[in-house]
Amino acid sequence: MTAMRFLEACALRPVDATPVWLMRQAGRFLPEYRALRAKLPFIEMCKRPDVAAEVTLQPVRAFELDAAIIFADILLPLEGMGIGFHFSDTEGPVIERPVRRAADLWRVHGIDPERDVPYVLEAVRLVRRELGDRVPLIGFAGAPFTLASYIIEGGHSSTYAEVKTLMYREPETFARLLGLLADVVVDYLLAQLAAGAQALQLFDSWVGALSPYDYARYVAPWSRSVLERVCGHGAPVIHFANGAGGMLAAVREAGGDVIGVDWRLDLDRAWQAIGFDRGIQGNLDPVVLLGPPDTIEEHVADILRRADGRPGHIFNLGHGVLPTTPPDNVRYLVDAVHRLSSQQRAASRS
Ligand code: CP3
Repeated sequence: MTAMRFLEACALRPVDATPVWLMRQAGRFLPEYRALRAKLPFIEMCKRPDVAAEVTLQPVRAFELDAAIIFADILLPLEGMGIGFHFSDTEGPVIERPVRRAADLWRVHGIDPERDVPYVLEAVRLVRRELGDRVPLIGFAGAPFTLASYIIEGGHSSTYAEVKTLMYREPETFARLLGLLADVVVDYLLAQLAAGAQALQLFDSWVGALSPYDYARYVAPWSRSVLERVCGHGAPVIHFANGAGGMLAAVREAGGDVIGVDWRLDLDRAWQAIGFDRGIQGNLDPVVLLGPPDTIEEHVADILRRADGRPGHIFNLGHGVLPTTPPDNVRYLVDAVHRLSSQQRAASRS
């Protein structure tokens, strides 16, 4: 870990070793997280800036990660929009009154981040104070489609039938909801920047449920609306589109300084589809971390070989780290990325 390796790579500048951080690094795979979680419900942890800051710092203390990501959840801004929800230990997030028709939209509105999510902004300030120049802090938000899928489905879904039905039957209602979400996400992300976040990630975790045609027609314009307004503020923006291997050109068009990809496509092919004038983040299958060190090493080497030492690669998983991941395997991964990528650079110089 060196202080700004992650930001340099986001700017497509050469670095001594490939930077690495992990989606969901602040969370359940760490025993020190579970110890705090045994005492507090998840939502309380998010709403207590001292706890959120502590959980953000836990993985950065334990491993040589090149970035921290603020401990929060993509659903937190919904409360301020008038959409009540809770986290159930068995079902995950549950939206109390899902939005399913035009009439449901009257109760939904924009947010004022300082009033509605002050605890996230305070946690950002606390973490920045603690981290100093050690590693940069990433702020984040859900993308309009991923947030809309929770708001419309009411929780997790395997078919996305409700969200797609609204999209096809009431395209204007769907567009109004996504437009409103785009404004909320912009306000939320800019507030995180103002509080001290040094990079941003937009999580579009569920766009893989869409055909490329529907993504381009119904969804990409709203992602673009967000990215146009949050890029260019001096902090790199990562656009993570999970399951979007078949539509990376459209994801790129929607924007982002760095495009985050999952593991279902080889990194070299993904980067080619995105274009080498953008950075790429990814893309180890999170389940590889449940395998032995040799297997982790082999997969890291393959991804680094495909990245070919080109400036602009940020190593990450293709999706979040699984709660059952052994912490020692995360340590092995982080060290392997640094070791193999610096060897790769030395070999290409000689
Ligand atoms: O990356 C990080 O370490 C920062 C923290 C973070 C959390 N959620 C903490 C969390 C981030 C970036 C998220 C994003 C998030 N939340 C996404 C997008 C990323 C992704 O995984 O695709 C989504 C879809 C959510 C919604 C969400 N939050 C779900 C579906 C669940 C329940 C299922 C699950 O994975 O636990 C949550 C709860 C949640 N968010 C937990 C954590 C640590 C677990 C809470 C607990 O301790 O019980």
